[in-house]
Amino acid sequence: MKIISNPLELKKYLQTLNVTIGFVPTMGALHEGHLSLIKEAKRNNAIVVVSIFVNPTQFLKGEDLDKYPRKDDADTKVCELSGVDILFFPHAKDIYTEDEVSILCPKVRGFVLEGFSRPGHFNGVLTVVNKLLNIVSPTNAYFGKKDAQQLHLIKLMVEQLFMRVNIIEVETMRENDGLAMSSRNVYLSKEQRKEALKISSSLKTAFSMVSKGELSTCGITKIMREILSPLEIFYVVILDRKFHTLKKVEIGNSIVLVEVKVGETRLLDNMWL
Ligand code: PAF
Repeated sequence: MKIISNPLELKKYLQTLNVTIGFVPTMGALHEGHLSLIKEAKRNNAIVVVSIFVNPTQFLKGEDLDKYPRKDDADTKVCELSGVDILFFPHAKDIYTEDEVSILCPKVRGFVLEGFSRPGHFNGVLTVVNKLLNIVSPTNAYFGKKDAQQLHLIKLMVEQLFMRVNIIEVETMRENDGLAMSSRNVYLSKEQRKEALKISSSLKTAFSMVSKGELSTCGITKIMREILSPLEIFYVVILDRKFHTLKKVEIGNSIVLVEVKVGETRLLDNMWL
């Protein structure tokens, strides 16, 4: 496995190869969820590039940038064992300059839900993803469905900026008890982890209510809020594929999204209905 930290060196090197490139952008602290992205990328591309970069511009003031889990050595081993061809480990100074051109996320869909509780977060996400995609020029780039709003906005960016990459969505990986895998799960105490199971449990209930014929989004989210109580809820909503709110679930075209705070940790999850 090649390890490259200079963006221009990586770009030049990749330009000499005439093969399909699968790209998995990450912030490190790799878990099974990341491994499933890498596996998918390996299945469908000649080479796989993984980036590890804790992107400072997507953290708001006072958020967990400084304590975000960093496991560079372990992550490098995991990538090597998973058959990654190139690990891209850039430094912030090589990604950002002082006077930056920036990408702004859409004013509506980028500032609702997580974008409402973390204003500006998605500007940082889109800016770095745009840069990474331009450095790697992958054939296919892989993102997890757990971050549904992030995925939606990345797809909008690729479509609206006429970018030449296929965005591939990969299923959320869960622990045996249903908790969606996330690098931030390490922040949870034993007790908080138990409380966090209310999230997947509320989603399962939504799914089961729809299977039994309940289509009122208000009716479903009311029950979900009861299950999630007393956690601090940022949102529980049911939207369509284009992220518009729905009064009635449209089966096959609806997603239920939840974000709550457990202790000091924000956790999000979703399920297609
Ligand atoms: O989902 C993540 O890990 C990050 O938001 C991403 C896409 C790597 C951008 O920093």
